[in-house]
Amino acid sequence: MRQAVIAGNWKMHMTCAEARAYAAAFLPLLGELPGDREVVLAPPFTAISALSEALAGSAVRIASQNVHWDDVGAYTGMISAPMLLEHGVSHTIVGHSEPRKYYSETDEQINLRARTAQKSGMIPILCVGESDSQREAGEAERVIRRQVDQGLEGLDPTQLVVAYEPIWAIGTGKTCGAEEANRLCGLIRGWVGYDDVIIQYGGSVKAENIDLLMAQPDIDGVLVGGASLDPAGFARIARYQVPVAA
Ligand code: 13P
Repeated sequence: MRQAVIAGNWKMHMTCAEARAYAAAFLPLLGELPGDREVVLAPPFTAISALSEALAGSAVRIASQNVHWDDVGAYTGMISAPMLLEHGVSHTIVGHSEPRKYYSETDEQINLRARTAQKSGMIPILCVGESDSQREAGEAERVIRRQVDQGLEGLDPTQLVVAYEPIWAIGTGKTCGAEEANRLCGLIRGWVGYDDVIIQYGGSVKAENIDLLMAQPDIDGVLVGGASLDPAGFARIARYQVPVAA
């Protein structure tokens, strides 16, 4: 049985003070979780340390929003794996569509980041997904397959999360239908070639659609942007309930 990974990506939101206040509100709302799921929060780099301290003793894990492929060097503005490990970071998001778009990240660079994460003992959350125009042109599967093949080269699929995030569903309120998201997650599972790889869906996930998404057999978790900024909403997402089959 695959353990679900429910992750919140705060993007460029939350100061240290806000992160501490979030943790104080979130932990009591989260309560004890069933062992079938893991909860991860990805604050901006500057709030990692404060959040890590505020969550100490809880089961909530910390992800970074990216990682450089070298441990040290002349890379202005970058953060390396040893710097993250020092603060208890266990996961790292790589290949998100925002750095792909705004900073022209390539599949090759994303693969280097993911390899470095695994070598350092972190779990990469590798994001893939097609744009609106690629979907309309019937190219979604080809684009995602390329991102999977190149992004995962040389990686250990047992220490990995893949997040299927259709770009047109990110921050738009347009969630991909649960069955269509499940279909793509199933295709990705086949391309990875490891049945137990954890595959998340991301894109306008909220309290109102989480139960339906998590009821899909190939969706093993979610990567949540906007709705993870509200502790009550994200606690509800983490406490998703899947109807028991009769
Ligand atoms: P939203 O949940 O705000 O659509 O963002 C999704 C996302 O990009 C998570 O990484």
